[in-house]
Amino acid sequence: MLRTNFDKKINECMSNHLDSVNNDKWRNKYHIMAPIGWINDPNGLCEFNGEYHCFYQYSPLTPMGGLKFWGHAVSKDLANWEDKGVALYPDINEDKDGVYSGSAFVKDDTIYFFYTGNVKHQGEHDYILTGREQNVILVTSKDGINFSEKKVLLRNEDFPADMSLHVRDPKVWEEDGAYYMVLGARTKDDKGCILLYKSNDLYNWELNSVPAGRLDNMGYMWECPDTFKLDGKDVLMFSPQGMEAEGYKYNNVYQCGYALGSFDDNKQELKIGEFVEIDRGFDFYAPQTFEDSKGRRIVIGWMGVPDAVEHKNPTIDNFWQHQLTIPRELVLKNNRVYQIPVVELEALRKGESVKNNVSLNEETTLDIFESNTFELNIKFENSNEFEVELREDCKLSFSNKLFKLQLGKSGYGRDMRAVEIESVNAIRIFSDNSSLEIFLNNGEEVFSTRIYNDSVDTALKLRGNGSAIVEKWNF
Ligand code: FRU
Repeated sequence: MLRTNFDKKINECMSNHLDSVNNDKWRNKYHIMAPIGWINDPNGLCEFNGEYHCFYQYSPLTPMGGLKFWGHAVSKDLANWEDKGVALYPDINEDKDGVYSGSAFVKDDTIYFFYTGNVKHQGEHDYILTGREQNVILVTSKDGINFSEKKVLLRNEDFPADMSLHVRDPKVWEEDGAYYMVLGARTKDDKGCILLYKSNDLYNWELNSVPAGRLDNMGYMWECPDTFKLDGKDVLMFSPQGMEAEGYKYNNVYQCGYALGSFDDNKQELKIGEFVEIDRGFDFYAPQTFEDSKGRRIVIGWMGVPDAVEHKNPTIDNFWQHQLTIPRELVLKNNRVYQIPVVELEALRKGESVKNNVSLNEETTLDIFESNTFELNIKFENSNEFEVELREDCKLSFSNKLFKLQLGKSGYGRDMRAVEIESVNAIRIFSDNSSLEIFLNNGEEVFSTRIYNDSVDTALKLRGNGSAIVEKWNF
């Protein structure tokens, strides 16, 4: 379909639904959301000419996630984002059923975008072995707003013969004078893996490695792979589908995490270490990283999970669904990837903080919240057991080396997620009108979740042993 026809439909949708989106009490204040309709993966993250760009999977025509476009948000400071509307449309044969996920690579004065063009054929198909095309497509831009013609670089027949038709989500980077691309894939015998391609000119790509992954207990498909170095170590982040739950691990329908790996010198083989979930909450998937001009490795994730059926997002009644996470800096500590909210988010703090010292031996109620948009820091001293309650029915507890997040009615089906952890000495919470991002021990573990409260609960309740210093800023 032509862009002008898409624009007409999107404008119609906007005039019918934009007011109900913008007037929703659950609309967030400082998170990237689609202006209308549905958002999923962050795409094409980069810093270019002094601005941060976050493109994203966007279905403007329905809050349930239909045909995918790329939306676009820009920021000068990683804290305040401005939406720029649709960037890429599904307007060629090779992407007619969706401009799927991809990445940005900045070179000189140009951004090179690599994404997956999704195509579905009519007829009786399983869309795994027949009926689908997934094409790697390149489009360039000198400003992030205007784009070149699209160029198809790789098609299914270019991928190894034992791959199914699910091969997607290119992430491109440069190393030692060569360009590399990872793709997530599903083999014909239903094993998740990644493919690594190499190029000298960004246009011609050759398979460089044996597919990495194909493990027995690691799912049938790996989506959105991303590899990068932290502190000299290779990190592979990806979103596997089809892993079985194991106690408190892998409780979401699809997983998301990382493994420390090692490439050999020619990048022909990648060894993958233990898989670690990167976020323990209900709503986190398909993250993407980029390196900014300060040399930081920054991640943004989708605060949602595909095909999640056990919980709901009531915002669909107001024609929108999902959001992205705050930007978080990735740091390697003790061979673990820590996520730390980028320091620029401190600019969201309004006025002075409210600070309290609390003994935890008796239950204390602090009446400190004026709205649901705040940052809360709690530092625990001599405490190996505590419970914290906020936002009506959200309970955070630590006991017997288990940290739990529990939600009641406001979770709309989200009940409990937990992680085994030696000690918890600090909790930092970024709260928005319908989301919580909870960082333990300065980013050692993170829980991201949506939460839908009927009203503002002003109280923070604390009990346990030891004491706590509580500090809160309004946002
Ligand atoms: C991950 C994903 C990607 C795909 C995109 C489509 O959430 O399924 O693999 O490119 O979303 O929207």
